[in-house]
Amino acid sequence: MKKVQITETVLRDANQSLMATRLPYSDFEGILSEMDKAGYYSVECWGGATFDSCLRYLGEDPWERLRNIKKAMPNTKLQMLLRGQNLLGYKHYHDDVVEKFVELSVKNGIDIIRIFDALNDFRNIETALKAVKTYSKKYNRHVIASGCISYTQSPVHTVEKYVEMCKKLKEMGFETICLKDMAGTMSPYEAENLIKGIKAEIGDMPVILHTHCTTGMAYMTITKAIEAGVDVIDCATSCFSNGTSQPSTETMFYALQQYGIDCGLSEDVINKVNDYFKPIKQKYVDSGRINAKSMATDAQALVYKVPGGMLSNMIANLTDMKAMDKFDAALAEIPAVRKDLGYPPLVTPLSQMVGNQAVTNVLLGERYKQISKEVQNYFKGEYGIAPAPVNKDLEKKILEKAGMDAPIDCRIEDSKRTGEDFAKAKEALGDLAKTEEDIMSFICYPDQTRKFLEDRKAKEENVCKYVIEEA
Ligand code: CO
Repeated sequence: MKKVQITETVLRDANQSLMATRLPYSDFEGILSEMDKAGYYSVECWGGATFDSCLRYLGEDPWERLRNIKKAMPNTKLQMLLRGQNLLGYKHYHDDVVEKFVELSVKNGIDIIRIFDALNDFRNIETALKAVKTYSKKYNRHVIASGCISYTQSPVHTVEKYVEMCKKLKEMGFETICLKDMAGTMSPYEAENLIKGIKAEIGDMPVILHTHCTTGMAYMTITKAIEAGVDVIDCATSCFSNGTSQPSTETMFYALQQYGIDCGLSEDVINKVNDYFKPIKQKYVDSGRINAKSMATDAQALVYKVPGGMLSNMIANLTDMKAMDKFDAALAEIPAVRKDLGYPPLVTPLSQMVGNQAVTNVLLGERYKQISKEVQNYFKGEYGIAPAPVNKDLEKKILEKAGMDAPIDCRIEDSKRTGEDFAKAKEALGDLAKTEEDIMSFICYPDQTRKFLEDRKAKEENVCKYVIEEA
């Protein structure tokens, strides 16, 4: 019997897409042991924005959350999303920091690390991959490194190009490949051609499809991908599915059943999971945390090839500047800017960079009269290699201004590995830091972590006082 497995995303991507990652541990703690019996391929529960959100908004230690989930779900593979050399932040970290982060993730219970780079510059995911192998061995666990491709559409992003990328990921030593369609713009036939092309080249290496329902394409796209031989699909329990989230787990379960495809899930358990989350979802709908807009279908991304989040960002910026009359012109400028940058996938941080530059060009009535610092750094090579050649005149102008002959040809970290980050962070935290995990949180999010650790210390001191008084 043909098999297609399902990754459940309610704890990470559905939570992130529908409610800005504000689901506290206490809201889902009660269902974890049941979820452990469902038979998912994996549960995506960590990484992405969960780390930042725990420290910044929820007053939770992200590492403790991971350990708790692991304890409650010993039989399920726990999965995280990692932005390669950016880890869970927005800048490039040094190799020793990336290695330590991966080590601590493995040590605290992660089983699958899905690693991607916004530009698909695989030099930026190599350190993390090697670290997964090293620490799998050290902690005597089989942790799967999944090589992830940021999917986009452009004249240079052909099926052949994606197949090449997959071959490269296989050569590098990844165990599975994930196609990540963050904007939900992959169409059914694109999925079919892609999966067929990839499967023909990389043989029995598992291929995973990650998409979003944002534009309304996802169910059709997934269906075609299944027909073409995809191995794993990402879904979310139905009350946390659709809109900007993933397709529904139960819906796919019933559809696959009629296809005669076994997805290994327990019908009873996945329905219980949905029943558990229903009142939780209602609570956040009532509080306004889950917005009607994120639950709806928005097909604009299919027209403009611009992700929904990027459009709403542009609208907000133009409204602030009282320049909404320039919206159409700015939208029309995006393809030109994207071409000049060599067709980067429009995912964070590239989506903001391209959008802001298009707005600037239109507002000043002249292309590149002002160039943002980020776009200048991009041309200097600091983000990695662009998918296609960039605009050479623009590159020359930027490099001349920076006194450079050519863009840097190595990763920006290669000349800067210092080993200092840890020592400095440890010193800065003093007795606030109790573990290596505390120090790592501080390196990733200094301000939020300091505040979190200070609050933790104050709480502990209060408890001590109470115990002494009681005695
Ligand atoms: Co996603």
